[in-house]
Amino acid sequence: MARSLTTFAHMLDQEIRKRRTFGIISHPDAGKTTLTEKLLLFGGAIQTAGAVKSNKITKAATSDFMEIEKQRGISVATSVMGFEYQGYKINILDTPGHKDFAEDTYRTLTAVDSVILVIDCVKGVEEQTRKLMEVCRMRNTPVIIFINKLDREGQDPYDLLEEVEKELSIHTRPLSWPIGIGEKFQGVYNLFDKKLLLFSNSKTKKASDVLTILDLNDKQLDEQVGEKAAKQLREDAELIEGVFEPFDEDLYRDGYLAPVFFGSAINNFGVQDLLDTFVRIAPFPRSRVTDTREVKPDEKPFSGFIFKIHANLDPNHRDRIAFCRVVSGTFERNKFYQHTRLDKKLRFANPNMFMANEKSVVDEAFPGDVVGLYDTGNFKIGDTLTEGENMQFQGIPSFSPEIFKELINKDPFKAKQMEKGIRQLTDEGVAQLFTQELGSIKIIGTVGELQFEVIQFRLLQEYGAACSFHPVAYSKACWITSEDKAALDNFIRMKSRFICYDKENRPVFMADTLRNLKSVQDYYPAISFHFTSEFKTDQALIGQAAYGK
Ligand code: G4P
Repeated sequence: MARSLTTFAHMLDQEIRKRRTFGIISHPDAGKTTLTEKLLLFGGAIQTAGAVKSNKITKAATSDFMEIEKQRGISVATSVMGFEYQGYKINILDTPGHKDFAEDTYRTLTAVDSVILVIDCVKGVEEQTRKLMEVCRMRNTPVIIFINKLDREGQDPYDLLEEVEKELSIHTRPLSWPIGIGEKFQGVYNLFDKKLLLFSNSKTKKASDVLTILDLNDKQLDEQVGEKAAKQLREDAELIEGVFEPFDEDLYRDGYLAPVFFGSAINNFGVQDLLDTFVRIAPFPRSRVTDTREVKPDEKPFSGFIFKIHANLDPNHRDRIAFCRVVSGTFERNKFYQHTRLDKKLRFANPNMFMANEKSVVDEAFPGDVVGLYDTGNFKIGDTLTEGENMQFQGIPSFSPEIFKELINKDPFKAKQMEKGIRQLTDEGVAQLFTQELGSIKIIGTVGELQFEVIQFRLLQEYGAACSFHPVAYSKACWITSEDKAALDNFIRMKSRFICYDKENRPVFMADTLRNLKSVQDYYPAISFHFTSEFKTDQALIGQAAYGK
């Protein structure tokens, strides 16, 4: 039945406001999988702990790429975990834990509206935490921090906050505060709702079973945690209220201020508190920028972009699943949409949506939702679908890879298969391809060693093309541009040995060492060197760094 325009606008607005699409990020082992599972448990999406398969690549399997691919296969089902909670529709976008798949994570972050960052209170800020936060800052993604494992002897909470502020360049505001830590951990005081949650070492109970005390001056506090801890908590609460500005939701939504929660995911502690505050303050789907204009979520025509492509591991089917984040309007099954890069109309008969760890065919989806589209090779990361408007969503860059190897075709009769295979794998975002003009040398750039094994294996299995890799002495690839065309041409001529072209035929400078890159940058001031393929994003990053956020 056709909906009237006003009813449609109202319905769309309601659907947008109830959606919370976010990612959980952490350095491996901080507790991302555990927290995800507990959130699903509270959301009623799963009934028992242990139901979510970890997509974390186990330490024992780090050298076994077959195992990794298998685990990645499993993770299709957990790519998006949707559930309803207190009238909200929550979509958790899963991110791989293994650092060699960091680029998958970066790209997934382009499709979320906010993130929850998990930090281990024993280890504090770690390498991946830093990198992931840099990506969040590129888009001013709002961040909530969950400091986990309070049941362990961790660092002092004040020191942790200081470390977070310093290392991640973000202001923090604790919304809960721990009472003791490790052996002495007794619970957290929720500074936002002014209530006390007492810790019970329970892996099965929900936090709602835990005693709640509404007033910090209540004598019950002394009875429950002892006079000493109660006194300490009162002092801490006073200090926090004195030192930190009151929590400002707008600053959080603009990505300047990260509210902080403390808890213990494995013990179900502090998780419901986190979730309840999250649904209240986290942003609903926002506008997104295209190359021509900004698209608002409540615009009637559908638009969306592809942020992830997952190969089907069944060798009999070349199908892939492309994950499309809906940006505006309503996505409908069986309706023709415009693939703007290919200028082609496409229709999807079996779009999938994901609820908890199950997928099912859906008839419609709204901004903030992610639909899985079966693809036979039409999509690459960053592609845009619209109802006809010619535009391309921005902000889905390729990042400068760090490991480079020359691709060697071992069977000259399979050159075509090799070409096709490598094109498709790079469309999927497994790696990046750079071609050196001199001699058409193909260089594969990745963020992790494992990708080379994955490429070699998949080229052979799926395309029948045998390949090997030769190491090359590059350590960074930078896209180069200049306002002065003659200067750029001259640079390309002078540095021809180090010039490659990416798949869009854009020139890329391959630096052998970071030191040399620096001296080349100094020597050629007219040339701009970009560390992501999307230069506007790059500029935004530089701009923010200068702003000193
Ligand atoms: P990740 O996805 O971020 O990599 O971390 P994951 O949730 O897999 O957690 C990493 C380890 O930390 C797991 O232990 C998990 O049980 C433990 N963990 C998570 N939250 C807490 C917490 O609040 N307190 C404590 N003490 N530990 C926590 P594991 O031994 O590696 O695995 P498992 O045998 O327990 O599954």
